[in-house]
Amino acid sequence: MKRDVHFILNGRPVTFSVEPRTTLLRALREYGVTSVKRGCEEGECGTCTVVIDDLAQKSCMILALEAEGKSVLTVEGLVGPKGELHPIQRAFVDEGAIQCGFCTPGMIMSAYAFLRKNPDPTEEEIRVALAGNLCRCTGYIPIFRAVRKAAAALRELGHTPGGVR
Ligand code: FES
Ligand code: FES
Repeated sequence: MKRDVHFILNGRPVTFSVEPRTTLLRALREYGVTSVKRGCEEGECGTCTVVIDDLAQKSCMILALEAEGKSVLTVEGLVGPKGELHPIQRAFVDEGAIQCGFCTPGMIMSAYAFLRKNPDPTEEEIRVALAGNLCRCTGYIPIFRAVRKAAAALRELGHTPGGVR
């Protein structure tokens, strides 16, 4: 029997009606949040990564009901009110860190959560932070470059830990 789950999705309160066994990944996609990609559904690829209460999480490993009362952010929620890209999204575009794009929303959400905690990371720290997100296209180098560039852009905007939109 379906049950209701209430949470904040990209800044807005929502109520989803879900079967208790439905994962957050499947629930988000059913409700039209298709940036959240269905890859392995085993917690291995990171394409389903969302940010829950400031923590990057693989939504295929979480039941939708577990989102009750939490704040869930997907890549759609990073876009500004006038459609302007978030500095991390902009850096991915500018650095050619996107090919097929399947891994991109998850990569960006992992980078987002990471840069909120660590605004001035080393190359090694970036690599470790994104180790749970697989990409079959880019060879990772443009992605790491994009995260470095985004970090610099956010610092220029006065970003401090926990301070990215
Ligand atoms: S779909 Fe969730 S980690 Fe692969
Ligand atoms: S851009 Fe295709 S999987 Fe990463």
